Parts: sequence; C-alpha cells; structure tokens
Amino acid sequence: MVELPQGVVWGAATASFQIEGDRAGRGDTIWDAFCRVPGAVADGTDGDTTCDHVHRYREDVALLADLGVDAYRFSVAWARVQPTGRGDFSAEGLGFYDRLVDELLGAGIEPWVTLYHWDLPLELQHTGGWASRRTVDAFVEYALGVQDALGDRVKRWATHNEPWCAAWLGHGSGVHAPGIRDHALAARATHHLLLSHGRAVAAMRRQDPDAAYGIVLNLDTARAGDGSDEARAALPLYDAVRNTVWLDPLAGRGYPEDAVSLLHPHLAGAVEPGDLEQIATPLDWLGLNYYNDAVFEAGEGAVPTVELVQPGLELVRQVDPGDAGTAMGWPITPDGLTDVLVRLQEEYPVLGPVVVTENGSAWDDDPAAGPDGVVEDPRRVEYLHAHLAALQAARDRGVDVRGYFAWSLLDNFEWALGLSKRFGIVRVDFDTLERTPKRSYLAYRDAIAAARADA
Ligand code: FCB
Repeated sequence: MVELPQGVVWGAATASFQIEGDRAGRGDTIWDAFCRVPGAVADGTDGDTTCDHVHRYREDVALLADLGVDAYRFSVAWARVQPTGRGDFSAEGLGFYDRLVDELLGAGIEPWVTLYHWDLPLELQHTGGWASRRTVDAFVEYALGVQDALGDRVKRWATHNEPWCAAWLGHGSGVHAPGIRDHALAARATHHLLLSHGRAVAAMRRQDPDAAYGIVLNLDTARAGDGSDEARAALPLYDAVRNTVWLDPLAGRGYPEDAVSLLHPHLAGAVEPGDLEQIATPLDWLGLNYYNDAVFEAGEGAVPTVELVQPGLELVRQVDPGDAGTAMGWPITPDGLTDVLVRLQEEYPVLGPVVVTENGSAWDDDPAAGPDGVVEDPRRVEYLHAHLAALQAARDRGVDVRGYFAWSLLDNFEWALGLSKRFGIVRVDFDTLERTPKRSYLAYRDAIAAARADA
C-alpha cells in the first residue's frame, strides 16, 4: 500500500473522448458509434475534433502550469493505444501519452491517469462489452500494457471513472453508449466493471508496488424534496444502485442485500467463486466525483434521465431546480459534498483517503471576453467557492480528503449533450479551437495560492 501525501493535492481533470479529437489516430469506440445514431447526441456533434487536445496538449499543459495545479487527471483512450481492445499495442498511440506525461512532469505537474473513462473499443462491444465477462480479461491486459509504457513516471492510477454511468446510463436508460436499455445487462456490467477493477489493481500492484491505486465513483445523497411517501420509499433503492452496490464490495462486504434483491437474479447470477475477494483488493485511495445531490418528488416521467435508469425509481422524478440549477438542470447542493465525504469517512474508512476527482458546473457563458481578455462566468465562480468551502467543512470535521480536481480544465464534449454544455474553466471556441481563460480559472488559481499560503 502506498500513502498519498498529506494535505490537499490541487488539480484539474479531463477525459480522453471529451477533449482529444484526432479520430484518425485511434480505433473506433462505442462513443463513435453512439454519435452516429441519429438523435443520440443532442446537438449532433461527435468526438472527431472536440478540443483537438492531441495536437494542442502543450498549450493545455501550459494552461495547467499557469493555473498552478499540483496534478492533472486525464484518461487514456483504450482504442488509441490498443485499437481493437485486444492484442498489439500501438506505438503511435502510446507515444502521445508518453509525450503528454513528459510535458506534465517538465512543468512540475503530477499525472493522475484514469484507465477507463467510458470509451470502450467498439470491437469489444461486438463481443458483449461490459455485460460480458470477456471484457474483464481484456481490461486487465490493457491496464498492464499502459502501465508498462508509462509506469516509470505515472504513480497515481485510477481504474474506472464512474462505473455507475458506464453500467446504468449505458445499459439502463441507454442515454450513454452503448445505448442499451436492459436492467439485466446493466446488472451484469456492474459486476464486470468491479471485477475488472479489482483484478487490474492486483495485477498492476504486482508490476509496480510503489504506485497508488484507486477507483473513481460518483456518489451522492438522495433526498425527498416533497417529503412524499413515494420519494421516501425510493431513497434506499436509489442508494443501493447508485452508492452501496459499488462501495460495499470494494470494502470487502459483498453486494448489499437491497441491491441483490432489486437486481435479482442478474447481479448475483454474474458472480463466480473468488470474484468478491478480487473486487475487494485493497485501495490506496478512493476518487469521488461530486456534482449535486439527487432530490426526488412523487410523479412519473417528466424530468430528465432518472426514469428508467435504475429500478426502484418508477414512481418518482427528480425535482426541476429551474433557474436555481445549473445549465444541466442540476440542483446546487454544496452541503451534499460535505455529507458524502463524512459518510465515506464514517462508513467506509477501509477504502482509504478520499480524493475529489471531479467537481464543477455547466453554464451558458457569454463568450465575449472582457477588456482583460477573460470570459466572465460568475455562477461557476460561485459554485466553485461553495464547493471548496464544503470540502474545507469536511476537513474541519476530520475527514481525510487528499485532493480536489476541478472539472474541467476545458469546455469539452459533454457526452449525450455534445458540445452544447460547457464545464470548462477555460473557454474553447470549437470553430477556431482558441482557448480563453474564464474568471473561474483565475478564481481557482487564487484559491489554490491561498490554500498553500495557509498550509
Ligand atoms: C461526470 C463525468 C465527466 C463529465 C462530468 C460533467 O459524470 O465523469 O466526464 O461529463 O460528469
């Protein structure tokens, strides 16, 4: 086991499919295929160019350096380094990450690498994707290959990013690639994602015992906004598939009973002898992505994405926060960040110190830069400050939080919403690819400097 440094690592995060572009330099992924389905991506955009980061990474690393971060969290595109997801690795694909890592280290920024941020090589979907156990073996082989190429310099690894989304948005509601709507397959994918994580960590740790290994989960707290019986009844069911179905087996407790009965017989049916032990391979740190709490009210259907995502939510919908929410229609609930961090410390200390690996907000920014060349984004600044205060509140309550990564360095391809939703602290003009810092970038820079001065 490897100790992360004491204190907070300050960083910014991105993900491969969302920023890289250079479609010609990699194999096809489930997201390329999904983007080709008419209507799947709201604005009809795709990952072919996005921020063109593959060709502009030097400029992006310079932005990180000016921001003053300690670390940069990015993901490797599996299909760039192993175009079909099995077999030979691409020297050209690995070469890109090799140069990126060197550029970061040259700027004094530590690379934090996520192995899987949803862009499964399409060939692997043809053999069943995450609903198939075969993908588990493929993932372990891929993880070891990437570590072999970068592990002399990369010492912070995360296996999966938000496996709940890969399983349940990908196979439950189908609003994400591969666009499947089948709870049985989503339950199987849940198990295979966890198993691939545990097996990859064990294998990678054998290859490099000096690196720190984690997984990144999107956890939150569900609340009954209207106090109704329907909403209250949904809360534990939501918690079971959103939170504890991941946390409990990682902590060595096996699958929680409420998840097992809710997903009967699909989840338990996927488990083979020895799997649960492998999933519980010890972690060096746990990544938490936090955007907002889930606030439910009685009623069917109306409000986006939650219905059909996971079972147990048939009689509720998420409360529409209206103008009080972000451009995603998400409520702003900074206290919820403190609550999740406290819960992790109280109920799951065995999962190690927590790193907030994503937090941020989308707004319809006014693109015109002011006289000082900065794009004004007051509500993103407000969101940032409120969540940094919530992080501090958790630390004041004794929670061992070891990092915070802003989502995202750049405006980027926001999955099923395409280029229409902007999370960046740096604006990207998707026609010219020009980068312009927003006020939130400067606010974050100041916050980091102030936190260092206090430490
Ligand atoms: C998270 C994803 C990330 C980004 C943000 C807004 O769920 O990990 O890629 O889309 O949401």
